[in-house]
Amino acid sequence: MSKFQSLMTWVDDRFPATRMFEDHMSKYYAPKNFNFWYFFGVLSMVMLVNQLLTGVWLTMLYVPSGEGAFASVEMNMMRDVEFGWLLRYMHSTGASAFFVVVYLHMFRALMYGSYRQPRELVWIFGMAIYFILMGEAFMGYLLPWGQMSYWGAQVILSLPGAIPFVGDALVEWIRGDYLISGITLNRFFALHVIAFPIVLLALVVLHIIALHEVGSNNPDGIDIKAKKDENGKPLDGIPFHPYYTVHDLVGIVVFLIVFCIVLFFFPEGGGYLLEKPNFEPANPLKTPDHIAPVWYFTPFYAVLRAVPDKLFGVIAMGAAIAVLFVLPWLDRSPVRSIRYKGMISKVALAIFVVAFVVLGVCGVKNPGEQVMGMSFITYSGLGQIATILYFGFFIAMPFWTAKEATKPVPERVTGSH
Ligand code: HEM
Repeated sequence: MSKFQSLMTWVDDRFPATRMFEDHMSKYYAPKNFNFWYFFGVLSMVMLVNQLLTGVWLTMLYVPSGEGAFASVEMNMMRDVEFGWLLRYMHSTGASAFFVVVYLHMFRALMYGSYRQPRELVWIFGMAIYFILMGEAFMGYLLPWGQMSYWGAQVILSLPGAIPFVGDALVEWIRGDYLISGITLNRFFALHVIAFPIVLLALVVLHIIALHEVGSNNPDGIDIKAKKDENGKPLDGIPFHPYYTVHDLVGIVVFLIVFCIVLFFFPEGGGYLLEKPNFEPANPLKTPDHIAPVWYFTPFYAVLRAVPDKLFGVIAMGAAIAVLFVLPWLDRSPVRSIRYKGMISKVALAIFVVAFVVLGVCGVKNPGEQVMGMSFITYSGLGQIATILYFGFFIAMPFWTAKEATKPVPERVTGSH
């Protein structure tokens, strides 16, 4: 027995290291027809690790107070500390990259019906991750204490004020002050660096445990456990390690190249990844001309603005996120993957994606501005149409999925044998 083997035997007698590696890697059978869309789960993990590591270092340089925060970011990190700018951009541009990969990861689930039975909990844990991630990003954005940090938080934190009776008291309780101040900054800092990352990590562990309990879906939406060889191994499965570990490495390298291009050449993304007013320190007496959240929040911000009443706007925005949680029970199609669904499903998914992107654009624009100079429609009007299409997708789904004719699903996965 080699030294390594005897060490592992010693460990295994005390901790199930080999068993865990086998259960989740070398003897975890994943469908052999994974495609491009299956890179984004592992890329979400890469971005999570990036945010955690760079975040720890940034915390060493950051001064969590109303007086010190802006200078600690714009002077210490960006100018004084060697490679501080790199750490900061890896984190700030990294936040956008994280949302890009998470959105693509969610879109994959929509396409291939990965949220369907028996993966409802995988989806629900995923949605919980998404929800916490939004909170994490929102609080992180306040920390540089620039104009947009301040006024963006001002707009969003005033929203609970629309709740009847308790609204104003609730807003004051969240802020910890009569206006957003260093006190708000301190609590956001504590939540951003400790509480939310812990919850996020725990949810990611639950997400993967739930996934490995039922097994991964695939682009055909076929259950690979249904067809097994004489040893009980799925005929259409391959061990995750070494096949997908190596395969994923290629995806990670390509992704990191693209990420580095943005990071080194367009870290502010033309004002979309780091907004221009944020290079000015927060000033409670001067409202910026135009307040818009960062791009990954704008679709929901546009839903909020599409409804003229503040309370109903807040409810609509909450509902736009909440409805995604119940998606597994809205889709009643006999097949999972879009490949075998009918034309209505394909068109509906395309309309939904367009509506989501249009909402994203409406969220950054001035609501009164005309859409591309057209006199008959403003971004506010366009946002309302897109909001109706967004909700229409979910409301109509149980009806068309139950009625629509589907294509026969093959017995074995396609495209890779
Ligand atoms: C930190 C964020 C996240 C991480 C690290 C993560 C990680 C992963 C990984 C590694 C997989 C397996 C590989 C793959 O199928 O791509 C996976 C699968 C899955 N994830 Fe996530 N995920 C995250 C967020 C989300 C979100 C926000 C959702 C949806 C709301 C989601 C829904 C799913 C579903 C449904 C699957 C199963 C896909 C299938 O088998 O076809 N995940 N996730």
